[in-house]
Amino acid sequence: MTLLNPDDISALFNPTVVGREIQVYLETASTNDVAMTLGRAGAPEGVAIFAESQTAGRGRLGRRWQSAPGRGLWVSVLLRPKWSGFSRFSLAAAVAVARGIDPFLPEPAGIKWPNDIYLGGNRKTAGILCESGAGFVVIGVGLNVNHLSDDFDAEIARRATSLALASGRQLNRAEVAASVLAEFDRIYSELPDNFPEVVAECEQRSVLLGKTVRINGISGVVLGLAPDGGLHLRHEKGGETVVTAGEVSVLELVPQ
Ligand code: BTN
Repeated sequence: MTLLNPDDISALFNPTVVGREIQVYLETASTNDVAMTLGRAGAPEGVAIFAESQTAGRGRLGRRWQSAPGRGLWVSVLLRPKWSGFSRFSLAAAVAVARGIDPFLPEPAGIKWPNDIYLGGNRKTAGILCESGAGFVVIGVGLNVNHLSDDFDAEIARRATSLALASGRQLNRAEVAASVLAEFDRIYSELPDNFPEVVAECEQRSVLLGKTVRINGISGVVLGLAPDGGLHLRHEKGGETVVTAGEVSVLELVPQ
């Protein structure tokens, strides 16, 4: 296994903001914690913090994030946007990760609203955790790259995958990292004007379209995404609604 090296990643792309400084930790509790601390200390936007291993990687809703040493990309980016709208980041980050990993895959990556990345329709390969502080935002991405089936704990092995499992080959993580950061830099530099395109691409990559889902106690069929990035549902009992945040459950996404 080749360890991640900031120079190897930097040599592969030419960022305006996202990734213009890269730090790699061999081990840390959570790269989001490191980036939040930098945010509170006034660090400039764009720094990307990678770790080979996290001892307390966090997912959404307080879940634990498994960070197998050396297998994935565990990275957090500090941003200081001049405009507001937290949900824009999650969707933009999801599109950036999807675009960034597509060149390494046999078929385009899917997005499970708002910001999980799925391969083959029903297996998660990446998750995104956005957090904010006073005047800054941290986007944390956990991307399973070179995991083999045994690298996942039994309870998630059925629902998880990696770029290596999907493509049938081990990948150079610096190349994947640079590709994702480059896409994120491109998208971020055009936000918020390009938000309609971000929403359209999220919808086009959605693994939820036409599926019956449950979110915030509401059940319905997913019709698409609304212009504000919310999830557009048709209620089981008729009528339509747009949900702006929440955790989607889809029974059909879990292989039986
Ligand atoms: C999720 O799917 O629930 C989001 C997972 C986000 C995991 C990443 S790994 C890098 C960064 N550091 C963390 O502690 N969490 C995010």
